[in-house]
Amino acid sequence: MSFPVRKFDAVIVGGGGAGLRAALQASKAGLNTAVLSKVFPTRSHTVAAQGGISASLGNVQEDRWDWHMYDTVKGSDWLGDQDAIEFMCRRAPEAVIELEHMGMPFDRVESGKIYQRPFGGHTAEHGKRAVERACAVADRTGHAMLHTLYQQNVRANTQFFVEWTALDLIRDEQGDVVGVTAMEMETGDVYIFHAKAVLFATGGAGRIYASSTNAFMNTGDGLGICARAGIPLEDMEFWQFHPTGVAGAGVLITEGVRGEGGILLNANGERFMERYAPTVKDLASRDVVSRAMAMEIYEGRGCGPKKDHVLLKIDHIGAEKIMEKLPGIREISIQFAGIDPIKDPIPVVPTTHYMMGGIPTNYLGEVVVPQGDNPEVVVNGLYAAGECACASVHGANRLGTNSLLDLVVFGKSAGDSMVAYVRSQENWKDLPANAGELTRQRLDRLNNQSGGENVDALRNELQRTVQLHAGVFRTDAILKEGVEKVLALAERAKRTEIQDKSQVWNTARIEALELDNLMEVAKATLISAEARKESRGAHASDDHPERDDDNWMKHTLFHPENNSLSYKPVHTKPLTVEYIEPAKRVY
Ligand code: FUM
Repeated sequence: MSFPVRKFDAVIVGGGGAGLRAALQASKAGLNTAVLSKVFPTRSHTVAAQGGISASLGNVQEDRWDWHMYDTVKGSDWLGDQDAIEFMCRRAPEAVIELEHMGMPFDRVESGKIYQRPFGGHTAEHGKRAVERACAVADRTGHAMLHTLYQQNVRANTQFFVEWTALDLIRDEQGDVVGVTAMEMETGDVYIFHAKAVLFATGGAGRIYASSTNAFMNTGDGLGICARAGIPLEDMEFWQFHPTGVAGAGVLITEGVRGEGGILLNANGERFMERYAPTVKDLASRDVVSRAMAMEIYEGRGCGPKKDHVLLKIDHIGAEKIMEKLPGIREISIQFAGIDPIKDPIPVVPTTHYMMGGIPTNYLGEVVVPQGDNPEVVVNGLYAAGECACASVHGANRLGTNSLLDLVVFGKSAGDSMVAYVRSQENWKDLPANAGELTRQRLDRLNNQSGGENVDALRNELQRTVQLHAGVFRTDAILKEGVEKVLALAERAKRTEIQDKSQVWNTARIEALELDNLMEVAKATLISAEARKESRGAHASDDHPERDDDNWMKHTLFHPENNSLSYKPVHTKPLTVEYIEPAKRVY
């Protein structure tokens, strides 16, 4: 039995910043556009972005887009594609002004221009000093962005399918993408969304880790769906640990705290970042700060009875500034750490925050896969933007605030690419005879499985395994063991069982389907990390402590069908400027 069909020009999976920005572009161009979202769009995980969106507006002191580009290339540890990085940094000022004109309520400096604060790794004149580049709405920038973009989409008549989860991609005999299957969670009904173009903007997959700043819904759905449809995943070994998650809770404390003057202290009360990054100190790049914190804890200078965290001190900037610029942080600290940062330091620990890898795309948001000698052949009708995509602007390590920028710049460019493609297609391509069959098989298996694996238990085991085997510091032996464990878990995941077989709001079934996606992401992570014999950005190997440009300045591609890897070159030709030559990364 086939599923009922709905037809749209463009289907966008994910209602966060990237999905909404792409949808706006498509709807405004007159495309019949659907957005499928697991949650109400303004509750998407973009809402958790706190400190700001980067753009070289220079509203506080001089700044330039090419300095922003340099910082991003350096932050990426020279794994970022320089064409994509130039594209993003050049467009940042207009992208932010565009949001302002849509009504995004940015904080202001005295002159009335957009307020900007310093952030880790963002500097003037190639590392000489920190620069104010993060355009902020207090510490709720993502929240403000989502509301702004949602309102614009309502105005542009985007059609929202709220509390729908996408399940599988539909490709025709040529491999072109012609739609996606999706389940309405309220009823359990499954539909085929027949589309001229499909865009994934499903965000991160931080829930492969036990401790993460990510929402529970961040289960890597777009990546899992692409993997099952034969699309490789790029650079999955690179996971960012945000230096300041609340110890024991994982909730994000924005880097904006350090941007406003906060400092990190060890058990001796020492501002230890002065030793690790003498120039910009607490505002070094995230991988550098996270490793420094882990080292302090490892060497016995951690705080608290278990010596398992460090302290983030901010009281010295004064209650008034904390209430004005960091009200959300104060609330989070009181709720999750039981302390008021106006008086006491916040206990913090590096926490999984962001996935630098993802679905391979070019800077136009088109999904690209290797074919023969060509490492980047466009998949017709398939697009990706935001955290689930790998453009690759973040390379081996993302700079804070470049994520919100990525969402709007590449959301818009992917939207434009979809519009051009849809306009070139007079009619919808036919659905293949077996459209929806994979989804049918997955659902039937779950409904008929008996004596199988418990979904919660398996997910918990997966999260503990990834946490232990793909952490801040890695070794060959730990990674090898991690690969074996994850492959064994993936085998067991083929036999997951749910007790509740009902249709209406069956969260057990949804979690079982999400676990399939987490497994694909975890396999890609461990297998890609185990193979990379160097240290670069967020991938820090004790056995291979140096960056090795001769052998490893290349992107990893994980091929899910046989758990194998291939590699493709980093783009070393920017669009208009000179290549930024590799250099040692010091802050
Ligand atoms: O620290 C933060 O506010 C997070 C920002 C980001 O990940 O870009």
